[in-house]
Amino acid sequence: MPQHAFGAATLLDPKDPMGLRAHAPLLDAWMRDMETDRSPFQIPGHKGRTDLTGAIVDGDIPVLPGNHTNRISPSLILEAEAIAAKLWGADLCRFGVNGSSGSNHAAVMAVASPGDKVIVSRTLHKSVLVGMVYAGVTPIWIRPEINPETGLPEYLPSTRLAETIAANPDAKAVLIGEPSYVGTMSNIPRLSKVCHDAGIPLVVDAAWAAHYGFHKELPNHPLAEGADIVVTSAHKTLPSYSQASFVLVREGLVDLARFNKMFDSTQTTSMSGRILASIDAARALLERHGAELIGPVIEATERGRDALRAAGIQVIDGEYIDPLKLVILLGSVGADGNHVEADLLAANIDVEMANRDIVIPMITFADTPDRINDLIQRIIESVNRHRGPVRPIEILPAFSIEPEVVVTPREAFFSDYEVVDSANAVGRVSAEMICPYPPGVPVLSPGERITEAALSALLKARDMGVRIAFVADPTLKTLKVLPQ
Ligand SMILES: Cc1ncc(COP(=O)(O)O)c(C=O)c1O
Repeated sequence: MPQHAFGAATLLDPKDPMGLRAHAPLLDAWMRDMETDRSPFQIPGHKGRTDLTGAIVDGDIPVLPGNHTNRISPSLILEAEAIAAKLWGADLCRFGVNGSSGSNHAAVMAVASPGDKVIVSRTLHKSVLVGMVYAGVTPIWIRPEINPETGLPEYLPSTRLAETIAANPDAKAVLIGEPSYVGTMSNIPRLSKVCHDAGIPLVVDAAWAAHYGFHKELPNHPLAEGADIVVTSAHKTLPSYSQASFVLVREGLVDLARFNKMFDSTQTTSMSGRILASIDAARALLERHGAELIGPVIEATERGRDALRAAGIQVIDGEYIDPLKLVILLGSVGADGNHVEADLLAANIDVEMANRDIVIPMITFADTPDRINDLIQRIIESVNRHRGPVRPIEILPAFSIEPEVVVTPREAFFSDYEVVDSANAVGRVSAEMICPYPPGVPVLSPGERITEAALSALLKARDMGVRIAFVADPTLKTLKVLPQ
């Protein structure tokens, strides 16, 4: 960990610079294993030897199959999960190694069974859609308000949700993604009240919100606002390993035993002890030092927004926006975000998302104000190099296309299919999930009619440099459709 990141506290112990070990049982167990010369006659097959494939396997320890109080084992994981549940005020917390993707699969299966209806925000991530395929449920789509100028989602009005529930009184749950990929938030207390009045749970895919509630400038955590299941990625906004996720569950409208069964079915039986320990460590860090670490990064990001605006560059801002989410819109300066990204890459700076109109550098409290300042200056310089005529922002197709559901996602997902030229695909039913990535929000779900609007929006996204993910033919020359 670079010392400049956290100031004087880093001088304590280089192996545990923030003094977390005493407060995080899995981290402590992982560190103890690292300090012990073991002869493992168990998987993983590398046996901790770094002289074979190198440092790549360093620190990779498994979860022991039996219960051990001082090792990474099922009983110690339960202990660490219980500490996390208490911190967030949940009745259950589960740590997962299959990202928010696996956690979303579990969440959908926990609240609905094959044939059930669920109300789902169309800003959902593809993993929620996959969860619906696994669960065999029928989605009732609901759209948040879309900002007419930027084409980006703003919030889901509670009146719209109430109307949708009233029209579908047999729906078993409501699933929404909050905050959206661009950091905008709905009013969760209102939405959860609407759900609870109807006796159904509110599931929030809060993949990007694991840090919420730990600084006064941040929105409250969705669990504290009434959600019943909250899925988060620890690896997105917290300093945990890739794949690390945790889910918080409130008992009542969700059956905890059923949730556990579904969650366990979405995880490998060979969990990485290192990933799990990194969730425990991030929880301890957030609990003990969250506010002090987050504050300066929020301030630096705010200064960055001011500097961008002063350079004439539009940024998303407002009361219901994650202050750490920096979303840069380039229409008003006419620069191409792909060129800006190329300039940043040349300076060894990677960004989370870039297309012609939008650049999103991901900021977390592991960043330092200096690095954020440097990033902002480089973005301004790059934009100035690539300035062009003002152009309207192209609305991201994921947020604009109205789905026409013909058969359920599961039926189409497992169906036979034909491959047709995309020019001949309009009017046919998609056998594929087609998601420009990021944000990974499907434009077409399996079982939906391929309309002229959907196809041309997808082609336009592809031409703007957006990756069309998870399809057989990412060039979109051909599409898989259901047989006629
Ligand atoms: C809203 C949302 N949910 C879920 C996921 C999946 O998260 P993970 O990468 O942790 O599986 C993502 C990933 O980007 C996401 O944006």
